[in-house]
Amino acid sequence: MKALILSGGAGTRLRPLTYTGAKQLVPVANKPILFYVIENIVHAGIRDIGIIIAPETGQEVRDKVGSGERWGVNITYFVQEKPLGLAHAVLVAKDFLRDGPFLMYLGDNLIGSRVDREVREFAEDETLAASIFLKPVANPKAFGVAVVDDGGRVVDLVEKPEHPPSNLALVGIYLFRPLIFEAISNISPSRRGELEITDAISWLIKNGYKVQSHMVESWWLDTGKKDDLLLANDTVMDEWLKTDIRGYVDPDSVVTGRVVIEEGARVEQSTIRGPAIIGSGAHLIKANVGPFTAIGSGVRIVRSTVEHCVIMDNCVIEDIPRLEHSVLGRRVRVKPTVRNQECLSLMVGDDCVVEIAT
Ligand code: G1P
Repeated sequence: MKALILSGGAGTRLRPLTYTGAKQLVPVANKPILFYVIENIVHAGIRDIGIIIAPETGQEVRDKVGSGERWGVNITYFVQEKPLGLAHAVLVAKDFLRDGPFLMYLGDNLIGSRVDREVREFAEDETLAASIFLKPVANPKAFGVAVVDDGGRVVDLVEKPEHPPSNLALVGIYLFRPLIFEAISNISPSRRGELEITDAISWLIKNGYKVQSHMVESWWLDTGKKDDLLLANDTVMDEWLKTDIRGYVDPDSVVTGRVVIEEGARVEQSTIRGPAIIGSGAHLIKANVGPFTAIGSGVRIVRSTVEHCVIMDNCVIEDIPRLEHSVLGRRVRVKPTVRNQECLSLMVGDDCVVEIAT
């Protein structure tokens, strides 16, 4: 079987981070979301992976992911020139996918479970035209929503409904056969001007084909906004992080709980409370870090406390008594103002959010 990962899209919900990078490369516990997706696909035994990229962020995705060598797989890239929908993305990779069943996975979705069994069952049961993964959610209006019968067969499907017929959201993992191309050729763009994969699957259902559902029992994190990203970070560190200390920790520092300190990081006169991860080349001096904090590569933290944060590569935090619940993009500098102790002095880009204690 092959797999198709969708790694295009504008990432508007994760602005400003996505002005300068692909949303699928935003790190969770210092690893791009897309890498977790690839690992899940590889674990299911799939070795041929296509990745749909956008012209704006495609090069960054190629640079980070490469040819797939690191996972022992072949990766082929397809450029979707315009964001014309998930079904349109499938068409872009038609020549790659047309010869058999395939797994389609949205590259910004994180789930806490494997998909091996569902992939195997789909490959073996040729009566299934498609399989979809579902999860009950509190806000179904924001997703594709399915209605299923007692046996888990999908009987109705609708994209971002005004009046959701159930609370079962499509989590962005799908299994298809080449029949999906016939379905896509029979649908038209939706109100948002996109060819929706949800409409193509609806076409299968309306034409009597069997579409099966699988409930995701573990957590699912659609890493859309700042709080989602912090929650994804918490969950991944809580469940998967194992202590691994390769960097230098001086005798005056205290490290407790599950902590990863990557190669080349230096921790001096500091306290780290796990779960926490300190990236390669990061330098902590008289710092308190954690719990639930991911510090990227090359970050410098001096005389500051940083708790429940995602701090991306090459940031500098100096003399900040307490930074909490924050996400900093790359190369951000946070330090006291030198002009006037009473005032704030900011240099922030578009769509940033600054919350100040008053
Ligand atoms: C897409 C799909 C939607 C699905 C969601 C999952 O929505 O169209 O059916 O529930 O992904 O993340 P989008 O993220 O493009 O709004």
